[in-house]
Amino acid sequence: MYIIKRYEDRVVAVTGGAKGIGKACCLRFAEEGAKVAVMDLAMDAAAGVAAECERRSGRPALALRCNVTEAASVDAAFGAITQAWGSLDVVVASAGIYSGQPLVEVPLDAWQKVIDVDLTGVFLTNKAAAAIMMTQHCGAAIINISSMAGKTSWPASAQYSAAKSGVIGLTRSVAMELAPYSITVNAVCPGNTMTEMVEGVAQTIAGRDGLSASEWLKLRSQDCPMKRFALPEEIAGVVAFLASPDAAYITGQAIEVDGGMVMA
Ligand SMILES: NC(=O)c1ccc[n+]([C@@H]2O[C@H](COP(=O)([O-])OP(=O)(O)OC[C@H]3O[C@@H](n4cnc5c(N)ncnc54)[C@H](O)[C@@H]3O)[C@@H](O)[C@H]2O)c1
Repeated sequence: MYIIKRYEDRVVAVTGGAKGIGKACCLRFAEEGAKVAVMDLAMDAAAGVAAECERRSGRPALALRCNVTEAASVDAAFGAITQAWGSLDVVVASAGIYSGQPLVEVPLDAWQKVIDVDLTGVFLTNKAAAAIMMTQHCGAAIINISSMAGKTSWPASAQYSAAKSGVIGLTRSVAMELAPYSITVNAVCPGNTMTEMVEGVAQTIAGRDGLSASEWLKLRSQDCPMKRFALPEEIAGVVAFLASPDAAYITGQAIEVDGGMVMA
């Protein structure tokens, strides 16, 4: 794969950056020369990603403990970034969790937890990022990771679909507010992507359908017109494009990166 260097010395912060899609975003921006802040709860993994970012970029990286459901924690992490590097150019809101049950079995706390992390977490991240970016008077970008579940839906997916649809609405509103500041705000809607989250979903749902996890994963990949799951790096490539000057006039969009799933 060829890598261009669009982000030399730019400051990039990624929530959920320790694993999966967030980790792939951290590494992609680092390969393109960025100083990367890995914001997560999983600190051992975050430290490992930050070290790998430093190796790839030749620039400093930060591993910051951040619980996206707590305003004080999000604000403190962004405060640490601006204190260290003085600016903020790109924010990727990738922290997320999944749970799903048939509607009448969804415990209220399961609903609340997914809404807290997957929707309120994105709101708090966008709010803190916007407060910094609006004072900088130069272009910046926010990319929120929604899901194909924000565009279409399945049974037994109420809390996740509601949160991910909410992220698309939130993205549009924030994009409207930040457009006058030349800050773009977009959502990316991945299809099934090979990460720990999908492996966990496979473990949970496969049993319900009387399948093994690997049988379930194989079956689901056949739902997709491209007959395979995405790699996290394929999502990160689109995120990196959306933060680039080539995407400076794209805002308020929710872009499917799903091998044609929603279309089909
Ligand atoms: N994997 C997929 O198929 C898929 C598809 C569509 C959308 N998504 C979305 O992509 C995003 C990333 O998912 P992934 O597959 O990489 O998952 P993952 O489980 O591999 O990584 C998620 C990361 O978020 C972190 N996290 C969880 N709760 C947090 C919190 N409260 N504060 C801070 N960090 C927290 C985890 O520690 C982990 O590092 C999520 O928003 C997910 O909903 C994933």
